[in-house]
Amino acid sequence: MNSMTTLQRDNLFPAFQDQFGREKRKLRISVTDRCNFKCVYCMPEHPEWMKKHDLLSFEELFSFCEFMVKHGIEQIRITGGEPLMRCGVVHFVAQLQVLRAYGLKRISMTTNGHYLKQYASALKQAGLDDVNISLDSLDPVQFFELTKKHLEPVLEGIQAAQQAGFKIKINAVLIKGFNEKQILPLSYWAKTVNVELRFIEFMPLDGDQNWTKDSIVSEQEILDELASVFEVNTLQGQGAHPARTYTVDGMPIGIISTITNSFCGTCDRLRLNAQGEFFNCLFSTQGMPLKQHLQQLMKGGIRSDTELKTVLNSYIWSKERGFHAIQEKQNSHQNLSQNSKKISMHMIGG
Ligand code: GTP
Ligand code: 5AD
Ligand code: SF4
Repeated sequence: MNSMTTLQRDNLFPAFQDQFGREKRKLRISVTDRCNFKCVYCMPEHPEWMKKHDLLSFEELFSFCEFMVKHGIEQIRITGGEPLMRCGVVHFVAQLQVLRAYGLKRISMTTNGHYLKQYASALKQAGLDDVNISLDSLDPVQFFELTKKHLEPVLEGIQAAQQAGFKIKINAVLIKGFNEKQILPLSYWAKTVNVELRFIEFMPLDGDQNWTKDSIVSEQEILDELASVFEVNTLQGQGAHPARTYTVDGMPIGIISTITNSFCGTCDRLRLNAQGEFFNCLFSTQGMPLKQHLQQLMKGGIRSDTELKTVLNSYIWSKERGFHAIQEKQNSHQNLSQNSKKISMHMIGG
């Protein structure tokens, strides 16, 4: 951080913090719940899309990002649904650049990769720092079964992103009895094309709620499979990263194991969905509606700023300890949780 930035940051407010002392440094912004894919681990068979007129405008999203960066956010990740399905997203990335002067260090995107061939170079020019791309199988038939879309455009998108100069991470969600045989092929492929690969334990956020504990491929099972052909070295430091990173024949491979080794203890994340609901945890069942606050904020005035700060402070402070604590609470209030809205991954962006 240069001295100018430090000066500006010191003059602003301290970072938001929850009741367990975890400071919030990362913000995930979902710009749409829509997606051209239908991944089995995410999208419901019959999605009910958010109404277009309910979505936050890019002006509202920008105001929120500006407010949050002035309150300690250092990294913004743009998500969906599929973020490249929202018109104007490249321009939004360009707009966010001015926030670097207030301490924003990284602007990233998580995408299914389908439209990257078209947008990679424009995103690079707009100032995007890095891209995470989902790729759960290299077998075209299985890829289609998983996503209901074709593999080829995604591989082309990955290539286009590399050519545009992006640092890329590949996300592979593993489902027992479905694609766990892809652990080795994906690892060989990642080494060949020189991308960082992360395997992800399937989380209970699929739209049709088919998740069961038995459908997870656990971190240990992934490591055992890798160790059957590669030399797997011990874990590197995890910090506030979701992935636990191993060296596999010299290359880094991450495993995001929310179920068997959650990283909640160091969670520094917050998220906003496309219609302005704010979530203090990926597994929160209740978001905080912010649209009206953001509209006030855009009209300006110190009062709207203070009001938003008060609302956020108290909601962020109340953040639960993490995934397992929320699961336990839900299990012990099963009747109550049946009434709460089921949030699926495409509505919150991961
Ligand atoms: P990096 O900043 O590159 O580490 O990105 P990321 O891993 O946070 O983002 P990405 O969108 O690629 O997400 C990869 C996986 O991590 C997805 O399955 C997300 O749902 C999951 N993930 C992201 N944030 C959280 C979180 O706060 N809690 C949990 N449990 N999982 C998360
Ligand atoms: N469990 C784990 N990861 C998921 N993702 C989507 N749904 C799930 C789920 N149920 C991942 C995708 C994408 C990221 C945003 O979230 O791989 O890369
Ligand atoms: Fe779309 Fe991503 Fe969800 Fe797959 S994981 S359905 S690509 S939002």
